[in-house]
Amino acid sequence: MEITQITNGIRYIGVDDLDLDLFEGQYEIPLGMSYNSYLIEDDKIAIMDTVDARKTDEWIAKLDSALAGRTPDYLIIHHVEPDHAGNIKYIMDRFPNCVGVCSQKAVGLMKRFFDVDFEDRLQTVKEGDTLSLGERTLQFMMAPMVHWPEVMVSYEQKDKVLFSADAFGKFGALSREEEDEEGWSCEARRYYFNICGKYGNMVQGLLKKVAQLDVKIICSLHGSVLTENLDYYIGLYDTWSKYEPENEGIFIAYSSLHGNTEKAALTLASIIKEMSDIKVSVADLRHDDMHEAIEDAFRYDRMVVAAPTYDGGLMPIMEDFISHLKIKMYQNRKVGIIENGSWAPVAGKKMREAFETMKNVTILEPMVTVESTVKPNTVEALKELAKTLVG
Ligand code: FEO
Repeated sequence: MEITQITNGIRYIGVDDLDLDLFEGQYEIPLGMSYNSYLIEDDKIAIMDTVDARKTDEWIAKLDSALAGRTPDYLIIHHVEPDHAGNIKYIMDRFPNCVGVCSQKAVGLMKRFFDVDFEDRLQTVKEGDTLSLGERTLQFMMAPMVHWPEVMVSYEQKDKVLFSADAFGKFGALSREEEDEEGWSCEARRYYFNICGKYGNMVQGLLKKVAQLDVKIICSLHGSVLTENLDYYIGLYDTWSKYEPENEGIFIAYSSLHGNTEKAALTLASIIKEMSDIKVSVADLRHDDMHEAIEDAFRYDRMVVAAPTYDGGLMPIMEDFISHLKIKMYQNRKVGIIENGSWAPVAGKKMREAFETMKNVTILEPMVTVESTVKPNTVEALKELAKTLVG
């Protein structure tokens, strides 16, 4: 069994999940998921988080191999969401002298989720508290809402390792990383905007604390251990959490009933491409991954939404998409609108109203109305919208 040595004294004992269809019951994970866990060996031995109960046996085998008969002194609990906390009870029951270390808020959540009461064996820590393991010292920082209220991160001062909880996490199993041709940022971005995106201000708070530290390695609870070029990853997190666009480009998200709104959206994409070299990305919300569409909406500085009127309102999948964007605090972008309607078009009005409730979203004119099918006058209107988009 392979157990990766991260530094002399810190080992990776996490596991991959290649059987789960949807993470958190909603996110597609074509390359699986990793639940990361680590073991620090010093005068005292600390387990850094457990894993999802789905992978208990595999994790225990790794833990036992790494422990080699020794007994852990501490279980550091950065986050009590079940994908990391599924084996807290197992550890506390099996090792009666092991002390759980967590934030005060984690205590109540653990009771709620796992029906356990380890209060007499929990050491709660607050901002700036430290725990000596021997040569190594862990320094704790609270990171509420990154991504739950009880979350904390820790900094191992000797090797300068940040145990960052969900921050800097990504979708994808470690054993399948090489298949991810787009590298870290694509699945990390989809993970960030869908899972942490609502809490950009809290992520900013964490980044300010991280900026005070000399971090050499980031050990997240999902995905790769980051060992070099950390400014790149931290820089992306800074951009994302400020809700700033990462790239110049136009993202076109559409839904369509009979293919006519689709034709308008794809015609617009062609016009833009003829007009300029600007990056254009297109998503068919009916078939493409909704969460990737959310990721792309945040990635680019401009977006076009195209949807038909349905039942006196907006085609539901577009309503769902825009609702997700609002929840995730979509802001600071320019948005163009294409609507379709055959007898009482209202889709454009509905979309405009939704974006007008979001911070610093500029609606680009003209709004294009497709009257059932794309006609020469529709193409002319799309050309006008394209000019505004390209600027
Ligand atoms: Fe990976 Fe918020 O749990």
